[in-house]
Amino acid sequence: MWHLRLWDFQDVAVVLSIALYMCHLAGAISIHCPQRSLTRSMQEDVLFSVNVSCLGVPKFHWTFMSAAVSRPIGAWQPGTDANVTEDYSSRVQTYSNGSLGLSNLRLQDAGYYILTVTEEGGSSRDSGLVLKVNEVLYEDLQYLSVSGLALSAIAGLLMLAMWLLNKAYGKISAWRSRRKEEERATELQRL
Ligand SMILES: *[C@@H]1O[C@H](CO)[C@@H](O)[C@H](O)[C@H]1NC(C)=O
Ligand SMILES: *[C@@H]1O[C@H](CO)[C@@H](O)[C@H](O)[C@H]1NC(C)=O
Repeated sequence: MWHLRLWDFQDVAVVLSIALYMCHLAGAISIHCPQRSLTRSMQEDVLFSVNVSCLGVPKFHWTFMSAAVSRPIGAWQPGTDANVTEDYSSRVQTYSNGSLGLSNLRLQDAGYYILTVTEEGGSSRDSGLVLKVNEVLYEDLQYLSVSGLALSAIAGLLMLAMWLLNKAYGKISAWRSRRKEEERATELQRL
């Protein structure tokens, strides 16, 4: 009888530990990023889109890293206010799925963006994304210089038109004064 109960106890312990192990597996954090490498131009916006799955409530922690610096961007949990570093506060958008939006990009924003997900239990996982920031494209400059040329051509045409109008006005007034003098002359003759 006692023997049987001991076996029961052992069975329960095995089942329990298997269950705990399964829970641990299910609780393992997974971070899915559809796009790990992004390229944007200066002054554009970027969304570091991620999908995090874990058992408990995750805490997201984004860090920026480049050859020169490493600095925290922000930390938050779904449904709570984000704690965003002051330098970023006007440009950062946080999402409850862990994604991070950054607007009005600068050249210095190019680098690595590391997401650390921490679970209440203490386990954590990192994932990194790369951002490249391009300077304003050459075509844009070309477009600007072309529109500059067009503007100066229009200005030239306007100046030519004004010069012609001025000349015509001078001719008309000269003709008028000549006619007045002729009229006066004929009047004088009649007298
Ligand atoms: C996370 O949420 C944002 C905002 O709702 C959405 O744009 C983005 O696609 C989501 N990311 C994933 C991987 O689902
Ligand atoms: C969050 O706020 C604390 C101060 O309350 C600060 O020390 C910490 O650096 C902040 N974390 C991030 C990621 O901004």
